Amino acid sequence: MEIIKDLRVMQARSGFLRQEGKAIGFVPTMGYLHEGHLTLLRRAREENDIVVLSIFVNPAQFGAGEDYEKYPRDTEGDLAKASEAGTDIAFLPEVAEMYPAGYATYVNVEGLTEKLCGRSRPGHFRGVTTVVLKLFNLVQPHRAYFGEKDYQQLVVIKKMVSDLNLDLQIIGCPTVRESDGLAMSSRNAYLSPQERLSALCLSRSLAKAEELIRGGEKSPQSIINEISKVIEKEPGAKIDYVAVCHPETLGDLESIDSQALIALAVKIGPARLLDNRLVKVNN
Ligand code: PAJ
Repeated sequence: MEIIKDLRVMQARSGFLRQEGKAIGFVPTMGYLHEGHLTLLRRAREENDIVVLSIFVNPAQFGAGEDYEKYPRDTEGDLAKASEAGTDIAFLPEVAEMYPAGYATYVNVEGLTEKLCGRSRPGHFRGVTTVVLKLFNLVQPHRAYFGEKDYQQLVVIKKMVSDLNLDLQIIGCPTVRESDGLAMSSRNAYLSPQERLSALCLSRSLAKAEELIRGGEKSPQSIINEISKVIEKEPGAKIDYVAVCHPETLGDLESIDSQALIALAVKIGPARLLDNRLVKVNN
């Protein structure tokens, strides 16, 4: 596995690979790799000639008082896992190179980014889309792989790619979970054993919601109430939001008729955790 830190070297390498006719698959991450990330890398391995992984904890997507400084990092462990998963190139840019003094250009997807996580993390998606577009320009992938765990991020990136006519395919991949249902996340590392148990209320409440919808419940508000009940019972859990929305527009649904994205963000101790479930109903 080749390790590239220099932006221009990465761009030149990709330009050369493209000229050679190689299909480039790209998995952008902030590192501290877990099975969720590795699943994206393996999928990219299956579908492309060259697999590029980026590891970059992107300061632009963290708000003041958020966990940028504390975000878990383990480059050595990450490189071993990435290599094992079949990565060809690990791209590790430096903050000072990505955002040199005087950096002034940002990408903003309007509308979609104001909903769900956008409400409590203003500016977060602007940081995500900016860094992802920069990474796309450097890595020049044919396909880029994102997890459905961060469903809103996936929808926002698809919108950016479509609106800006970017010439690549965005591939969404299912959420990878621990055996007890907890969605894998680098931020799970913040949880104490007790909090780790409490965190199960996210996936449990989503399972309950799906069961109710399959049983005929059509009212988003009833679903939100039921989810809230499950989460509020858990000591130390604090709801940021619970939403029942359209999976593409992320707009609130008035009634659950064909499909619904149930998305939630919950603070468990020091960690703000996300989970979601897409429920399709046959009428
Ligand atoms: P990060 O949280 O490191 O996640 C990198 C990719 O892995 C994202 O596409 C995310 O959705 C996916 N992922 C994380 N946990 C997953 C799980 N349990 N199952 C499946 N996929 C999972 O998301 C980011 O980094 C950043 O915002 C980034 C896109 C890299 C921009 O900085």
